[in-house]
Amino acid sequence: MKPKHVAIIMDGNGRWALKRGLKRSAGHLEGSKILEHLAMHAIDAGIEVLSVYAFSTDNFKRSAEEVNYLMDLFIKMFKTKFAKLNKKGIKVVFSGRKINLRSDVIEAMEYIEDNTKQNTAGILNICFNYGGQEEIVDASLKIHEDIVNGKIKEDDVTKELFSKYLYQDLPPIDLLIRTGGELRVSNFMLYQMSYTEFYFTNTLFPDFSKSEFNKALFIYENRDRRFGNVK
Ligand code: FPP
Repeated sequence: MKPKHVAIIMDGNGRWALKRGLKRSAGHLEGSKILEHLAMHAIDAGIEVLSVYAFSTDNFKRSAEEVNYLMDLFIKMFKTKFAKLNKKGIKVVFSGRKINLRSDVIEAMEYIEDNTKQNTAGILNICFNYGGQEEIVDASLKIHEDIVNGKIKEDDVTKELFSKYLYQDLPPIDLLIRTGGELRVSNFMLYQMSYTEFYFTNTLFPDFSKSEFNKALFIYENRDRRFGNVK
């Protein structure tokens, strides 16, 4: 069966650039092009939701130069390239904390969310200033507030209800792809990954082509998913 929800940890942009004697920013620029192609391709492949890890809460530890370059690149992408995704009928949503983000970045995020909210062909969930543990903490605080205000009762809190309090109400992740050779989850979408299939590749994100994406889908389709059950 095709995955409904695919998530990608887009790792390796920096190494891709350094290998070519370029600045790390050149790798991010190339990565942004690949992301655009993959988002279009995922919709054509019948995937309903594509979640991508664009910027983690911990990425703020990088140099101010790199952080600012990434923020400027995001604004450029959100405002220009995403017109193409919009035309394709893709709804763009964001997951993450708004706190610490520049106001021009928040404006660009709101612009793309507003302009694509009616779209129904598929969803691109961009995880931005995002942390998986932070998301669980934020959801817990919202649930607590709703209990205190009498909107819900403690007994109403199930794992299904909890997932509605996450940044976006999305189906669980079927397939996680991580490029760049590292074998870890890096605080990405922890609540949504309880039964996710993992696909790790050494390919650096700017080299992650449509055919590599198709290979990951093929491998996924041949996995035996039992969700704790027996055959
Ligand atoms: C990880 O590679 C990548 C990032 C921290 C940024 C990802 C950003 C993009 C793909 C750009 C476009 C995205 C959007 C949503 C506009 P790394 O820098 O950690 O690479 P390294 O491990 O080789 O150092």
